[in-house]
Amino acid sequence: MSLATTVQEELLEAARAAAYGAYCPYSHFRVGAAVLAEGRIFAGCNIENASFGLTVCAERVAIFQAVAAGCRRIEAVFVTCPDAPSGSPDSHRMPCGACRQVMAEFGSRELPVIVDRIREFRLHELLPAPFEL
Ligand code: THU
Repeated sequence: MSLATTVQEELLEAARAAAYGAYCPYSHFRVGAAVLAEGRIFAGCNIENASFGLTVCAERVAIFQAVAAGCRRIEAVFVTCPDAPSGSPDSHRMPCGACRQVMAEFGSRELPVIVDRIREFRLHELLPAPFEL
């Protein structure tokens, strides 16, 4: 079932607002994400680190906010990259592999993943064979 337009608009607004809180002094590439979980919206931005490897993506920050608040199931993800130039390839705006695996931990195969200025995907399209224990 597709998401209500109002929920999509709320996710878009939350993700775009979150992107402005990004801590990205190394890449200067802001990312914002918002997740719908148990009827609530949680947002996150990317947070970089001088080590580079300790950087955390916006999607994981948003999902972990939801989980830390007690929500174990996510129902939709919205991601936006305001610094991706309009002519740049779609791949510059797609969620990374690590974030897809984290989405699989808390979302179903049918989880809607809406990528701003591209389209809505289902998680199974982005990660057809997640690792499971
Ligand atoms: N980034 C995200 O926040 N989400 C992704 O799915 C891909 C990449 C961030 C990490 C880093 O701060 C910047 O984008 C450039 O890679």
